[in-house]
Amino acid sequence: MIAEEFEKLFKTRPEISGFTPGRVNLIGEHIDYNGGRVLPTALNLGVTLALSPRTDGKIRIGSDKFDDVAKRSIGEATSDHWSDYITGALQIAHTEGFGPKGADIAVTTNLPFGAGISSSAAVTVCVLRAVRDLSGGKLTDTDLAVLARRVENEYIGMPCGIMDQMAVAIARPGQALSLNTDTLNFDLIDLPKTHHMAVIHSGVFRQLNEGRYKIRKEECDQIKAAAGREDICRMSDSELDALRDLPDDIFRRARHCVNEHRRTVAAADALRENRMEDFGALMNESHISMRDDFEMSVPPVDALVEDAQNFGATGARLTGGGFGGCIVACVAHEKLDAWREKLLAAHPNAFWVA
Ligand code: GLA
Repeated sequence: MIAEEFEKLFKTRPEISGFTPGRVNLIGEHIDYNGGRVLPTALNLGVTLALSPRTDGKIRIGSDKFDDVAKRSIGEATSDHWSDYITGALQIAHTEGFGPKGADIAVTTNLPFGAGISSSAAVTVCVLRAVRDLSGGKLTDTDLAVLARRVENEYIGMPCGIMDQMAVAIARPGQALSLNTDTLNFDLIDLPKTHHMAVIHSGVFRQLNEGRYKIRKEECDQIKAAAGREDICRMSDSELDALRDLPDDIFRRARHCVNEHRRTVAAADALRENRMEDFGALMNESHISMRDDFEMSVPPVDALVEDAQNFGATGARLTGGGFGGCIVACVAHEKLDAWREKLLAAHPNAFWVA
């Protein structure tokens, strides 16, 4: 279908097409830039694109989601336009010597934007993978994820960690990626057949580059300076205690980082051993920590999480960058339909994503 869309736009067949999934993080929030372990999984939803290289420095991008065909060029800076991620991905691939000088691209997605399920990482990795495959290059999927993060950090100006890019480049639906964000070592854990990981949008939309994410990142930089180390998630209790003189909110950010990392390690073990009650309890604790210590939630999300838990989920929490977006809930299959109906009826602004 994407090939037909491409043909309609550019009157020729594309040279390559590809799909990259979105992701939902099961647990381990805001610790992927603090040396922690995270546990995302890939969604069935994602980004599909078709691409043909150009040699004249021009980039043309069409999407059924937008009316205009974006006309960009390979050396161009961001212009606060939906085509920025694709332009940035092509630019870095070209600078790194494996990407073409320009491209025609048709792209579509069934991922909602600004939902905390990584539509931007998915589109960036999808472009990088397409041009790597076209070039016959040797870069691994981890290499692509590292480049995709550079697009965010250096081109877009969003100081994110590496979780989203690794998740969409490596995880497949039905698997959780237990990722050490310090070393980029990972293992894949099969999700249990007994439970569903439900993703529900709170109805509160936000953009990460709005600034609140950046503030949290800067607060963590303050902790790193005080602790004299980058991997603040891995501090011992006494090392954390030694930071008590920091302002109270900054100390609580540090406490979230340490505890969230430990919870994520424990959650990966619980998942491996099919201890879903333990897994759910860790999700619930994670939400409290995000709400009270990291202060990255908002009241409608808290209310949604609370009802998700009360209506029978094994565990539920805010997921992603925070300040709105989606929750993720672990729900036993036999409870899923009734749970979903009750939750959505109680929260008319919320909607089912995956
Ligand atoms: C966003 C960022 C990630 C990560 C999460 C929070 O999705 O892109 O790097 O920090 O927020 O866990």
